[in-house]
Amino acid sequence: AVADDYLRRIPKAELHCHIAGTLRATTVAELAKKYGLPLPRPAEQLYQWPNFDGFLEILRLSALVLRTREDFSRAVYEYCEDASRDGNLRHVEFFFNPDYFYPNGIDYPSMVAGMADGVERVGRDFGISARLICCIDRSINSPAKAVEIVETALAHRHELVIGIGLDGNESVGPPAIFAEAYALARKGGLRCTAHCCEDYLTPLEAPPTNYLICRDVLRCDRIDHGYNMLASDYVMAEARKDGLYFTPCAWTSLLHNRPHRPQRIRRMVEAGLNVTINTDDPAMFGTNLGHGFTTLFDTIGWGPDKARMFSLNSVEGSWLDESDKARLR
Ligand code: ADE
Ligand code: ZN
Repeated sequence: AVADDYLRRIPKAELHCHIAGTLRATTVAELAKKYGLPLPRPAEQLYQWPNFDGFLEILRLSALVLRTREDFSRAVYEYCEDASRDGNLRHVEFFFNPDYFYPNGIDYPSMVAGMADGVERVGRDFGISARLICCIDRSINSPAKAVEIVETALAHRHELVIGIGLDGNESVGPPAIFAEAYALARKGGLRCTAHCCEDYLTPLEAPPTNYLICRDVLRCDRIDHGYNMLASDYVMAEARKDGLYFTPCAWTSLLHNRPHRPQRIRRMVEAGLNVTINTDDPAMFGTNLGHGFTTLFDTIGWGPDKARMFSLNSVEGSWLDESDKARLR
């Protein structure tokens, strides 16, 4: 077994983290009060929901408190402050869904500028680097809307925005329907990832073949989650040959059987996939990078070699330039 302290202190990059899912409940409550936004429950109970779609609703509601450039800077700053302390975070690639924030009266360039302010501050104060991934929520964005989101990201090109992602409920937005948005992103020089095979859904709702669609139709460079792929030996064998990096998350409060995620991650590693460890929505799930690593290792019983492997995988799987990767290795 590895000491928890070693797991917390080993340097990490994080490739799957939604900015709206990182907000401290106290920050959401403070800003909601300031802006007169009603919340359904007090801060201590805010992050509760009956199911996956209920979770997504609270996520979108929390996003409504980020209204100014300063709010976006603060969100980046507070997450990095927490993650530096709890898990020695050194690099993070944040998902942000621009359409969550438009009702707040902020435009795309201003939200990106706010996050860029935050990135500069966390570089200075914590030595953390960060990039941004413009994300499409498949539950509420039509394929045409997804194309518009990509067009906006390309029209207001910012050096920190390096790719696109696809989140939300995969059973109502199968990957193939977003082919046009992905082709446009790729043509514009953006990298591509997508949430795929999430285990809140059954292998019928989020089937292993979604991996093949993400690979061949969306032409993804990376895959978020991936657990339901375990239901197909063929898909697992393909994924092993392909060598894409995966970004599963060690802890979620949405699954009530706690060891499930660690066991699925163990099987992904044993099948020879390139695996990284991430937090997804740390504030909402009541977790952090250090906690994710310690729960995973306490459940599986891996030694320090695996901790070093995950640490290095997160650098190799990142979308940093070779020179930045070299600095982190
Ligand atoms: N948005 C934030 N976290 C998500 C997840 N795990 N799956 C789908 N959409 C999300
Ligand atoms: Zn996610």
